[in-house]
Amino acid sequence: MKKLFIVANWKSNKTESEAKEWISKVSGLKDQDLSNKDIILCPSFIHLPIAKTLIKEQMLPVGLGAQDISLFEAGAYTGEVSAKQIKEFAKIVIIGHSERRNNFGENDDILFKKFKLAKENGLAVIFCVQGKETKIPENVDIIAYEPINAIGTGNPDTPENAENVAAYFKANFKVPAVLYGGSVTASNVNSFTQMPNIDGILVGKASLDPEEFYAIIQNV
Ligand code: PGA
Repeated sequence: MKKLFIVANWKSNKTESEAKEWISKVSGLKDQDLSNKDIILCPSFIHLPIAKTLIKEQMLPVGLGAQDISLFEAGAYTGEVSAKQIKEFAKIVIIGHSERRNNFGENDDILFKKFKLAKENGLAVIFCVQGKETKIPENVDIIAYEPINAIGTGNPDTPENAENVAAYFKANFKVPAVLYGGSVTASNVNSFTQMPNIDGILVGKASLDPEEFYAIIQNV
């Protein structure tokens, strides 16, 4: 049976107390057989430390990821969080989300540099693509196919189309794992994860509600 990635992307949401409450509400995960699931939580940078502490204390089978990294090494870059700093808390980082491309002007050049820095610092990367035309760096670990009009709209892509894109990246670029993201919920998750070339999901809005996220994990 293939191992499925179930990734929560909280984006720019949650206060510290809300983050703590979410983690306490998924505490039942530690009593489940999750051997074929890799659950990864990507909170805001500021919540990585508390999430790391609570996950360890409660022995939860949840890994941590970051939503982005600085384009630069550690140094004089006010306001940035470097890959080296993130590595203390997270094992993986999302790079190239369409919200970064569209709102922060991140182009292929910037994103490929971020990818390189992440790898040099020992972070795995979930590199987001918006379609078959998106350029990807060589040796990317995981791709997330996230069509822009499916993100946060309640209007997901079809599982057949997502499968087609996943198969394309695997066949042409030997990408080991491809995730789907865009309006995934507990009720539609299985239609994506049952596709042979889809290795998991990247969940935004539905991951904010711990009960819904818990249900997504049960339903994959
Ligand atoms: P959504 O976001 O689940 O809210 O559509 C997915 C994403 O942007 O990763």
